[in-house]
Amino acid sequence: MPAEFFAEISDQKTPPTYNYFNGSQWVPSSSGKTTQVASPIDGSVIGFLQVVTTAEIDAVMDKAAASQPAWEATPLHQRVKIMHLAADWVRHFEEYLTTLLVNEVGKTADDAKSEIKRTADLMDYFADEAQSIHGEEIDSDNFPGYDKGRIALIERVAHGVVVAIAPFNYPVNLAGSKIAPALLMGNNVVFKPPTQGGISGVHLAQIFRKAGVPEGVISCVTGKGEEIGDYLVGHPKAGMIAFTGSSDTGVAIAGKAPMKPLLFECGGNNPAVVLPDADMSLAAREIVKGAFSYAGQRCTAIKYVLGTRETLETLETLVVKMLAELVKMGDPRSPETKMVGPVISAEVAEHIEKFINESVAAGAKVAVGGKRNGAYLEPTVLTSVRPEMPVVAQEIFGPVASFIAVADYTEAIRIVNASRFGLQASVFTKDEGTGLVFAKQLNVGSVQINGSPQRGPDHFPFLGVKHSGIGVQGVRYSLEAMSRLRPIVINKPQ
Ligand code: G3H
Repeated sequence: MPAEFFAEISDQKTPPTYNYFNGSQWVPSSSGKTTQVASPIDGSVIGFLQVVTTAEIDAVMDKAAASQPAWEATPLHQRVKIMHLAADWVRHFEEYLTTLLVNEVGKTADDAKSEIKRTADLMDYFADEAQSIHGEEIDSDNFPGYDKGRIALIERVAHGVVVAIAPFNYPVNLAGSKIAPALLMGNNVVFKPPTQGGISGVHLAQIFRKAGVPEGVISCVTGKGEEIGDYLVGHPKAGMIAFTGSSDTGVAIAGKAPMKPLLFECGGNNPAVVLPDADMSLAAREIVKGAFSYAGQRCTAIKYVLGTRETLETLETLVVKMLAELVKMGDPRSPETKMVGPVISAEVAEHIEKFINESVAAGAKVAVGGKRNGAYLEPTVLTSVRPEMPVVAQEIFGPVASFIAVADYTEAIRIVNASRFGLQASVFTKDEGTGLVFAKQLNVGSVQINGSPQRGPDHFPFLGVKHSGIGVQGVRYSLEAMSRLRPIVINKPQ
């Protein structure tokens, strides 16, 4: 069944070359160029993606812009029905998509399966929630100096064509989290999957198509971000950019898409602040989970831990012990492996290793880990770290947790707030009141009290400040972000 359903997206060779979706058909690019996707598990080639040309992007954009008004005019209940069907297809292919994800991005089977399930649930939730999004009417006489002579009818309308750019770490879920709200609010979508993760991405595009998304309403263009990314985001027919990826790329895109609405989730380098009264076992367990799940390749991963010297000493012993119990690096296809498979490529692993080595040269100490074998990087805990060291100052997408000792908790707040990142932070304390007071002083998107940073549950607002994001996601918030207000004012002749 998967073979038949997905037949037209590739040439059926081994390894397959995948087509791109021009809004009507899956076709090879006229560029004659493809980009290779190799598994981070063992470097084996698992497929090739088209590298589309700028002329092909123009054609896709033209088609998307031309067909968008008809899609927006389609009754919402029909768009909702298509979304539920797409969610059902995602569920139907759970096993197939899980295997694809494991091979393509090196997630453990549990993590991959949870990504697929979460995507289907999210699409259903989006479809349900979209039905309660509505406009409003405001009278004029609330404002001093006005009588009842005006009424504003405020509708929610689409932005037009949304360019949706997904990252490698959740190539299905963070594509679905953009495509679903965009379509439900009446936008057309030009989807750009990541290169690594692009094979999973084209499968998702086919699911939307098969669920009944009409011609031109969704398209899927592939190619290296550095080759087609600028052209896509700066395209005059792109009405909005929704992006998840690194902070540096986010900053670059923002500069290339002037005056367009942006919805960005970028790097986090999230801190965990452990107060002396914390439940240390709980804090240690959450730090291990937060720092090492999916090899630390989550924007919500914990990257550094702040506490007084005595607190960190207690914590270090517990974290090292729990790491040995809960984490096992290895081939993600093996059920023995827990949390840490390879990072996305050997080059990325090498880069992270360089940050570790530079930090060690600057005085950091390796409590555990620190070694690399190809794309596999040992889960690493560093102590005696300072905030200016590369493992904290740079965006580091790997299994590394750094302990930074502070003289007092005012210093901890200063360090968190001085960071260029501001996605989430965790505060551990037995006193929730203290946690609340502390949380209010941190300049980050969200604060978790007694838990590790995380995006879910997916209907909670999710946002980053500073270089960690623009706009707010989360089911209702994403639907709102994927639309704009259109007030129409009726002036009653006096
Ligand atoms: O990597 C970015 C994701 O939005 C993080 O999601 O907290 O569910 O792992 P997560």
